[in-house]
Amino acid sequence: MSNHPPRVAIYPGSFDPLTNGHVDIIERGSRIFDQIYVAILANAEKKPLFTENERVAIIREVFKGRANVQVETFNGLLVDYAQRKQATALVRGLRAVSDFEYEFQMALMNRRLAPSVETVFMMPDEKYTYISSRLIKEVFMLGGAIAGLVPPVVEEKLQGKQKARR
Ligand code: PNS
Repeated sequence: MSNHPPRVAIYPGSFDPLTNGHVDIIERGSRIFDQIYVAILANAEKKPLFTENERVAIIREVFKGRANVQVETFNGLLVDYAQRKQATALVRGLRAVSDFEYEFQMALMNRRLAPSVETVFMMPDEKYTYISSRLIKEVFMLGGAIAGLVPPVVEEKLQGKQKARR
Protein backbone atom coordinates (compact mmCIF):
# COMPACT_ATOMS: atom_id res chain seq x y z
CA MET A 1 0.00 0.00 0.00
CA SER A 2 1.29 3.46 -0.86
CA ASN A 3 1.39 5.98 1.95
CA HIS A 4 1.71 9.17 -0.01
CA PRO A 5 -1.03 11.77 0.50
CA PRO A 6 -3.77 11.50 -2.15
CA ARG A 7 -2.68 13.06 -5.43
CA VAL A 8 -5.37 15.60 -6.24
CA ALA A 9 -5.67 17.36 -9.60
CA ILE A 10 -7.93 20.09 -10.94
CA TYR A 11 -9.18 20.08 -14.51
CA PRO A 12 -10.52 23.62 -15.00
CA GLY A 13 -12.46 25.10 -17.89
CA SER A 14 -15.70 26.53 -19.18
CA PHE A 15 -17.12 23.21 -20.47
CA ASP A 16 -19.84 25.01 -22.45
CA PRO A 17 -20.53 22.27 -23.37
CA LEU A 18 -18.51 19.19 -22.41
CA THR A 19 -17.00 17.53 -25.53
CA ASN A 20 -15.57 14.08 -26.09
CA GLY A 21 -12.15 15.73 -26.05
CA HIS A 22 -12.81 16.85 -22.45
CA VAL A 23 -14.14 13.38 -21.57
CA ASP A 24 -10.95 11.82 -22.94
CA ILE A 25 -8.74 14.11 -20.82
CA ILE A 26 -10.82 13.53 -17.67
CA GLU A 27 -10.52 9.76 -18.15
CA ARG A 28 -6.77 10.00 -18.62
CA GLY A 29 -6.45 12.26 -15.58
CA SER A 30 -8.60 10.00 -13.43
CA ARG A 31 -6.22 7.11 -14.17
CA ILE A 32 -3.11 8.90 -12.95
CA PHE A 33 -4.46 11.00 -10.08
CA ASP A 34 -6.23 9.71 -6.97
CA GLN A 35 -8.84 12.45 -7.26
CA ILE A 36 -9.67 14.82 -10.09
CA TYR A 37 -11.96 17.83 -9.71
CA VAL A 38 -13.56 19.02 -12.91
CA ALA A 39 -13.80 22.72 -12.05
CA ILE A 40 -16.21 24.88 -14.02
CA LEU A 41 -15.38 28.57 -14.02
CA ALA A 42 -18.41 30.39 -12.57
CA ASN A 43 -19.42 33.93 -13.49
CA ALA A 44 -17.20 34.11 -16.55
CA GLU A 45 -17.80 37.30 -18.51
CA LYS A 46 -18.79 35.56 -21.73
CA LYS A 47 -22.44 34.57 -21.98
CA PRO A 48 -22.63 30.78 -21.81
CA LEU A 49 -25.16 28.60 -23.65
CA PHE A 50 -25.50 26.28 -20.64
CA THR A 51 -25.94 27.56 -17.09
CA GLU A 52 -23.41 26.54 -14.45
CA ASN A 53 -25.93 24.12 -12.94
CA GLU A 54 -26.62 22.53 -16.32
CA ARG A 55 -22.92 22.07 -16.98
CA VAL A 56 -22.36 20.53 -13.53
CA ALA A 57 -25.32 18.15 -14.06
CA ILE A 58 -24.09 17.06 -17.51
CA ILE A 59 -20.56 16.26 -16.34
CA ARG A 60 -21.83 14.46 -13.22
CA GLU A 61 -24.13 12.39 -15.40
CA VAL A 62 -21.29 11.39 -17.76
CA PHE A 63 -18.95 10.46 -14.88
CA LYS A 64 -21.49 9.02 -12.45
CA GLY A 65 -19.65 5.67 -12.32
CA ARG A 66 -16.27 7.23 -11.49
CA ALA A 67 -15.80 7.70 -7.77
CA ASN A 68 -12.61 9.73 -8.16
CA VAL A 69 -14.11 12.34 -10.51
CA GLN A 70 -15.82 15.25 -8.72
CA VAL A 71 -17.53 18.17 -10.44
CA GLU A 72 -17.70 21.65 -8.92
CA THR A 73 -17.80 25.31 -9.89
CA PHE A 74 -15.21 27.81 -8.77
CA ASN A 75 -14.85 31.58 -8.55
CA GLY A 76 -11.79 33.76 -8.40
CA LEU A 77 -8.25 32.59 -8.99
CA LEU A 78 -7.80 29.00 -10.12
CA VAL A 79 -4.70 28.53 -7.96
CA ASP A 80 -6.62 29.64 -4.84
CA TYR A 81 -9.30 27.06 -5.57
CA ALA A 82 -6.60 24.43 -6.22
CA GLN A 83 -4.97 25.16 -2.89
CA ARG A 84 -8.30 24.96 -1.07
CA LYS A 85 -8.69 21.47 -2.58
CA GLN A 86 -5.10 20.59 -1.61
CA ALA A 87 -4.43 19.87 -5.26
CA THR A 88 -0.88 19.63 -6.50
CA ALA A 89 -1.68 19.62 -10.22
CA LEU A 90 -3.70 21.54 -12.78
CA VAL A 91 -4.56 19.41 -15.81
CA ARG A 92 -4.97 21.04 -19.22
CA GLY A 93 -5.50 19.41 -22.59
CA LEU A 94 -3.26 20.39 -25.49
CA ARG A 95 -4.80 19.74 -28.88
CA ALA A 96 -2.43 21.47 -31.24
CA VAL A 97 0.44 23.93 -31.36
CA SER A 98 -2.16 26.71 -31.57
CA ASP A 99 -3.19 25.97 -27.97
CA PHE A 100 0.34 26.24 -26.74
CA GLU A 101 0.89 29.98 -26.43
CA TYR A 102 -2.20 30.68 -24.29
CA GLU A 103 -1.60 27.56 -22.20
CA PHE A 104 2.07 28.40 -21.68
CA GLN A 105 1.18 31.91 -20.46
CA MET A 106 -1.44 30.57 -18.06
CA ALA A 107 0.83 27.82 -16.75
CA LEU A 108 3.65 30.25 -16.02
CA MET A 109 1.34 32.83 -14.44
CA ASN A 110 -0.20 30.12 -12.27
CA ARG A 111 3.28 28.92 -11.30
CA ARG A 112 4.25 32.44 -10.31
CA LEU A 113 1.11 32.72 -8.18
CA ALA A 114 1.45 29.26 -6.62
CA PRO A 115 4.83 27.59 -7.20
CA SER A 116 3.76 24.35 -5.53
CA VAL A 117 0.94 23.72 -8.03
CA GLU A 118 2.22 22.09 -11.21
CA THR A 119 0.46 22.31 -14.59
CA VAL A 120 0.28 18.96 -16.37
CA PHE A 121 -0.56 18.92 -20.07
CA MET A 122 -2.25 15.92 -21.59
CA MET A 123 -3.01 15.17 -25.23
CA PRO A 124 -6.44 13.87 -26.13
CA ASP A 125 -6.83 11.04 -28.60
CA GLU A 126 -5.91 12.43 -32.01
CA LYS A 127 -9.47 11.95 -33.27
CA TYR A 128 -10.53 14.77 -30.96
CA THR A 129 -7.79 17.27 -31.73
CA TYR A 130 -10.00 19.56 -33.83
CA ILE A 131 -12.99 19.65 -31.47
CA SER A 132 -13.79 22.70 -29.37
CA SER A 133 -16.91 23.70 -27.45
CA ARG A 134 -17.19 26.80 -29.62
CA LEU A 135 -17.22 24.81 -32.88
CA ILE A 136 -19.66 22.25 -31.48
CA LYS A 137 -22.13 25.03 -30.61
CA GLU A 138 -21.73 26.73 -33.97
CA VAL A 139 -22.05 23.55 -36.06
CA PHE A 140 -25.00 22.27 -34.06
CA MET A 141 -26.91 25.55 -34.13
CA LEU A 142 -26.45 25.72 -37.92
CA GLY A 143 -27.84 22.21 -38.37
CA GLY A 144 -24.61 20.18 -38.70
CA ALA A 145 -24.11 16.69 -37.24
CA ILE A 146 -22.15 16.46 -34.00
CA ALA A 147 -22.81 12.81 -33.08
CA GLY A 148 -19.64 11.16 -31.80
CA LEU A 149 -18.07 14.49 -30.88
CA VAL A 150 -19.96 15.03 -27.62
CA PRO A 151 -21.52 12.61 -25.11
CA PRO A 152 -25.15 11.67 -26.01
CA VAL A 153 -26.49 13.65 -23.03
CA VAL A 154 -24.89 16.83 -24.44
CA GLU A 155 -26.48 16.23 -27.84
CA GLU A 156 -29.86 15.82 -26.11
CA LYS A 157 -29.45 19.02 -24.11
CA LEU A 158 -28.37 20.92 -27.23
CA GLN A 159 -31.53 19.74 -28.97
CA GLY A 160 -33.51 21.05 -25.98
CA LYS A 161 -31.84 24.46 -26.29
CA GLN A 162 -32.60 24.60 -29.99
CA LYS A 163 -36.27 23.79 -29.41
CA ALA A 164 -36.49 26.46 -26.72
CA ARG A 165 -35.19 29.03 -29.21
CA ARG A 166 -37.75 28.24 -31.88
O1 PNS B 1 -10.85 25.95 -21.08
P1 PNS B 1 -10.99 27.43 -20.86
O2 PNS B 1 -12.41 27.89 -20.97
O3 PNS B 1 -10.04 28.18 -21.73
O4 PNS B 1 -10.55 27.67 -19.32
C1 PNS B 1 -10.00 28.86 -18.88
C2 PNS B 1 -9.75 28.80 -17.35
C3 PNS B 1 -11.03 28.58 -16.61
C4 PNS B 1 -8.77 27.70 -17.04
C5 PNS B 1 -9.11 30.17 -16.96
O5 PNS B 1 -9.88 31.21 -17.50
C6 PNS B 1 -9.00 30.36 -15.46
O6 PNS B 1 -8.23 29.69 -14.81
N1 PNS B 1 -9.80 31.28 -14.90
C7 PNS B 1 -9.85 31.55 -13.48
C8 PNS B 1 -9.25 32.90 -13.11
C9 PNS B 1 -7.74 32.80 -13.05
O7 PNS B 1 -7.17 32.11 -12.23
N2 PNS B 1 -7.09 33.54 -13.97
C10 PNS B 1 -5.64 33.55 -14.08
C11 PNS B 1 -5.17 32.44 -15.02
S1 PNS B 1 -3.42 32.50 -15.27
